Amino acid sequence: MPHKDVNYKKKGAACETHHIFVRRIMNSMGMETLDQMLLSSWYHVHSSVPPSYVQLPENRPGRVVSSLHKAIPVIDLGSHDPAHTTNQMLKASEDYGFFQVINHGVSKDLMDETLNIFKEFHGMSPKEKVNECSKDPNGSCRIYTSGENKMKDEILYWKDSLTHPCPPSGEYMEYWPQKPSKYREVVGKYTRELKKLALKILEVLCEGLGLKPGYFCGGLSENPAVLVHHYPPCPDPSLTLGLAKHRDPTIITILLQDKEVQGLQVLKDEEWIGVEPIPHAFVVNIGLLLQIITNGRLVGAEHRAVTNSSTARTSVAYFVYPSFESIIEPAQVLINGNTPPTYKSMSFGEFRRNFFQKGPKIEEELQ
Ligand code: OGA
Ligand code: NI
Repeated sequence: MPHKDVNYKKKGAACETHHIFVRRIMNSMGMETLDQMLLSSWYHVHSSVPPSYVQLPENRPGRVVSSLHKAIPVIDLGSHDPAHTTNQMLKASEDYGFFQVINHGVSKDLMDETLNIFKEFHGMSPKEKVNECSKDPNGSCRIYTSGENKMKDEILYWKDSLTHPCPPSGEYMEYWPQKPSKYREVVGKYTRELKKLALKILEVLCEGLGLKPGYFCGGLSENPAVLVHHYPPCPDPSLTLGLAKHRDPTIITILLQDKEVQGLQVLKDEEWIGVEPIPHAFVVNIGLLLQIITNGRLVGAEHRAVTNSSTARTSVAYFVYPSFESIIEPAQVLINGNTPPTYKSMSFGEFRRNFFQKGPKIEEELQ
């Protein structure tokens, strides 16, 4: 083809034109574009679960312990007995790796507004969603379907997710979505509040563990991200998972869940426990990094998300991530002659590379 036929001229409209160009090429090759891949763009035309989403029998949802019989602990952060709060949180983190917090100081209105903004985001057209997540050439803000790397998922997961960094410095905010129109304002305010809450929770854990106050205040909590999952209704929830069994690659994770819709489950003593949504509570879980820092005293519990057939579920995870240079290793005060370190020391950057290559098998690499 003569060179002049290839239209590279319209540099001004580069982004939009490039998208249309990529779509046309991919369509002509019989390939799907990202917006066409999003579950939200096609799930409603199916009356049964496509085979690529059917989990192996051993991984299907199956039996769940009723949350009335066993529930993850609920901790009152506004309690007037701080020593009791510390003990409770430490015990929950040792026994379950999970707890919920109430009276946490984040306003209910802000929690509602945030959940609504994200619901609205996931309710936009697939093309619009992809566009709103294409502002950073380095890909700091991403929308994807199934797991973070769909190509790696042998069986697919029933969800779409949006993720971007959210440090209080405001760095990266220029790449966040601008639709819905209040997105940056609301998510900016929310993530600033969540940083405070994260440090409040980590201070309580520090106290309980005997770590220096402020242990997590610097590099270890410098690089947070939000991860917003959208699980559309599924024609047969008994065959699918929204999110595979995993431990979070974080220090801690703070989750805002939909008020009415169940979906999160925690593995405890080989049984799956449903995490009951408590309106305006946050679900907190210990991540693998804190498991390493505490030399295994606190557990990064395994959890997963299941789907349901009637209502879409949205959840907003705030991931407390360190800076890439931060060294992740058992804290000096927690190791001694009787408890030698059981984990290697590595930078968070190295940990992340391993995590994305190895997935759950990373645990063998850490020892
Ligand atoms: C996660 C996670 C749970 C949920 O994002 O790591 O476990 O309910 N989310 O979406
Ligand atoms: Ni998780």
